[in-house]
Amino acid sequence: MKLLAISLLTMAAVSGTAAATVDPHSYAETDKFLVHHVDLDLRADFAAHRLEGTAELTVEQIDPKAEELNLDTRGLEISTVHLIEASGHAKVLAFKLAAPDPILGSKLTIQFPHCCAAMQQMHIRIAYRTAADASALQWLDPAQTFGPHPYLYSQGQAIHTRSWIPIQDSPGIRLTYSARIRTPPELVAVMSAARVEDPKAAPGEYRFEMKQPIPAYLIALAVGDLKFRSLGDRVGVWTETSRLDAAARELVDLPRMLEAGERMSGPYRWDRYDVLIMPRSFPYGGMENPRLTFASPSIIAGDRSLVSVIVHELSHSWSGNLVTSATWNDFWLNEGFTTYLERRLVENLYGERLARMEDAITFTDLVQAIEDAKAAGHPEDTQLKFNLAGRDPNESSSDVSYEKARWFLGFLEVRFGRPAFDAFLREYFDAHAFQSIDTEGFRAWLLSHLGRPGAPKISVAEIDEWLYGQGLPSTMPAVPQGVFDAVDRVAADWRAGKIATADLPVKDWVPQEWVRFLEKQPADLEDAKLADLRSGLHLGADGNAEIALSWLALVIRAAYEPAYPDLERFLLETGRWHLVVTLYTDLARTESGLELGRRIYAKAKPGYHASIRDEVERRLFPAGA
Ligand code: BES
Ligand code: ZN
Repeated sequence: MKLLAISLLTMAAVSGTAAATVDPHSYAETDKFLVHHVDLDLRADFAAHRLEGTAELTVEQIDPKAEELNLDTRGLEISTVHLIEASGHAKVLAFKLAAPDPILGSKLTIQFPHCCAAMQQMHIRIAYRTAADASALQWLDPAQTFGPHPYLYSQGQAIHTRSWIPIQDSPGIRLTYSARIRTPPELVAVMSAARVEDPKAAPGEYRFEMKQPIPAYLIALAVGDLKFRSLGDRVGVWTETSRLDAAARELVDLPRMLEAGERMSGPYRWDRYDVLIMPRSFPYGGMENPRLTFASPSIIAGDRSLVSVIVHELSHSWSGNLVTSATWNDFWLNEGFTTYLERRLVENLYGERLARMEDAITFTDLVQAIEDAKAAGHPEDTQLKFNLAGRDPNESSSDVSYEKARWFLGFLEVRFGRPAFDAFLREYFDAHAFQSIDTEGFRAWLLSHLGRPGAPKISVAEIDEWLYGQGLPSTMPAVPQGVFDAVDRVAADWRAGKIATADLPVKDWVPQEWVRFLEKQPADLEDAKLADLRSGLHLGADGNAEIALSWLALVIRAAYEPAYPDLERFLLETGRWHLVVTLYTDLARTESGLELGRRIYAKAKPGYHASIRDEVERRLFPAGA
């Protein structure tokens, strides 16, 4: 029995693709049709908050008997569907849009008459417009940007691309894309693709081409008053005009980061690596859109102290974008590998001390995330492999997929030895380049490696405890905390009154040490001390976003009312998941916090991206509350 299970797993790994993996978050039927390319022709209508135009899909028929093509959509208004024949003649096709599922959206079924179902490669053109509240898109007024112009951007991960493109929206399915985007003439469009210069283009008309096959969640668009500055041969930064100098100063290390990434993981296969610094409401620290990472302006700290976010997104160029988790149940393959690579690159670029500080801080967060998942009645969310059927994939996104998985790879590193593990990783990226893989595929690949001569001894039970076990496994490596010994001593002495606030050695602290100092303060810290921190150390809603976050978390923990206005301002100004969701989660821990959270949220809600609203509402208004 056991033998059979392993040989089936090995077969899945050999076939390499995820075609056999069922994705519970997509209506795509990969055994019938595969979409290989989409050509977009869309106009951004800022008055109506809609994209309108056509998507032409290049579709391969896998099953010659299939007569219906199912696509993912959400809120799209579809006007026509045509089959474009070789002659160029467009033939009308019948279609059906199913009633929307609250999580998955509406299945779009396109019907082929008997005559057409035999064609192997087809071009299907869908004319449509997006809903004004499309879940992927945020349309910003000038007041929500860094300048006098409006702004539009998309966020595809996890299952939002279907709200602006009718597509097979599964991370297990890859496609290339091309696009023509028309915007008001004073605005500039960028995408996760190469720009195609067109001398005949009208003002506000832009063309793009992505030649490498990617999953649909990585198709991305932004439109605004954007300017570009080059920072090297292959790297540069885009942002709104008023932010360009600050962004360029913060990101001077981009060329070194890219080189370090290549030394670690193999050749960079996307030609360029640019970063787009977004408006404040952007929901993520960073989003790894290929060729063009979208990043929160909260990472521009002025002292380059938060650029590990960029190191993280760059690392997704290998784990996530080159080798992609086949379904959202395998999300840890994207984020855990990336977090591991991020830590290794931080170590390489900024030193061992900083990398261990990041490890220690995020380990505390991991322990909290595990407790929270258990308390919420979802202990299964502490497994690396998820079972998210029937749930919104964003709901389970937590430090488990990032930090528990980072330590799984840390465990493998210890057993392999660093040089052998580095070679293992390089081979993994090469062997699965431009493919999607699920947990079982990775497991089989790892097991086949462990069968090689000279490989370390790691048992199947040890591996499976990591992949399918809950909480922290018995082989969890010890996470070094020693880097914070000095700060921890100072924190204890300050609390005991042995060090005055004015004498805290803060000018020697890196932001990570500030964070540790603040995180170590208990909920019953006296008001006088909190007041000292606030006025003496200028803690508030501004400055370094991570320091502000730990300060405001302490404000919530200690119910320190004088600083509530700072908390409110912070939650009104940023829309970044990690900052916003962390604080609302903390607020929801007590009755009075919940009340304050709901009051602030009522004001802040219009400024948040739709996916953040869902996240926050799950915490502030849990079912039954
Ligand atoms: N891919 C994620 C962002 C994401 C996750 C979007 C799940 C939608 C669903 C991105 O790479 C990420 O992890 N961003 C982090 C930064 C990182 C340094 C941990 C963030 O936004 O804070
Ligand atoms: Zn990530």
